[in-house]
Amino acid sequence: MQLLHLDSSILGDASASRGMSAAIVDAFRRQNPQATVVYRDLIADPIPHLDGPIAAGFRPIGASEFDQAALAEHARSEALVKELLTSDVIVIGAPMYNFSVASQLKAWIDRVTQPGRTFQYTSQGPVGLANGKKVVIASTRGGMYSEGPAMAMDFQEAYLKAMFGFLGITDVHFLRAEQLSKGAELRDLSIRAAHAAVAAFTDELALA
Ligand SMILES: Cc1cc2nc3c(=O)[nH]c(=O)nc-3n(C[C@H](O)[C@H](O)[C@H](O)COP(=O)(O)O)c2cc1C
Repeated sequence: MQLLHLDSSILGDASASRGMSAAIVDAFRRQNPQATVVYRDLIADPIPHLDGPIAAGFRPIGASEFDQAALAEHARSEALVKELLTSDVIVIGAPMYNFSVASQLKAWIDRVTQPGRTFQYTSQGPVGLANGKKVVIASTRGGMYSEGPAMAMDFQEAYLKAMFGFLGITDVHFLRAEQLSKGAELRDLSIRAAHAAVAAFTDELALA
């Protein structure tokens, strides 16, 4: 059993999503002491964004001659996609930035979304190939998006759900802290409620 743990908050120790993702992974470790945990801090160790030569390593976009730097990035793409494919559980700390995910998390997604590896085109349309995994997302936002007028602006959770669905992963859970930019009192309450939800969720997982 392997768990892949990703963090993408730029706020370091002050980050709510990092605290939540760590709590989820701690519970998983206690419940599965034999499991391997692979950790990627996508801010401390960022993955370069795609460019033509990097994307050509796994997408048929025409280029065929690569310098050493591009070849090293092809090896990185391969390592990242293998790491995803060999993981059973993926835990992601995913704050909302400008209504979507951190660009560093998007850079990871762009490396692991590979035709023939994690999805394939068929005559019936694209089909996900990364089935059978569980994804748990510690989602944080400054405002309120789970209900109310800003719901339509949620391109963070909606995107992650659609993206993992595209890869064939439909077992996606969101543990959420909202209204984190609405004053210290509301922030505290929201983080405490989110940690209680994390504990309830991980207890339930242990019983399953
Ligand atoms: C660059 C940046 C952009 C943000 N954009 C949004 C946004 O579009 N909507 C929102 O509700 N909160 C936004 N926030 C607030 C964060 O979602 C909030 O601070 C959350 O706590 C971040 O998660 P973290 O504590 O794990 O870093 C933004 C924060 C930063 C730093």
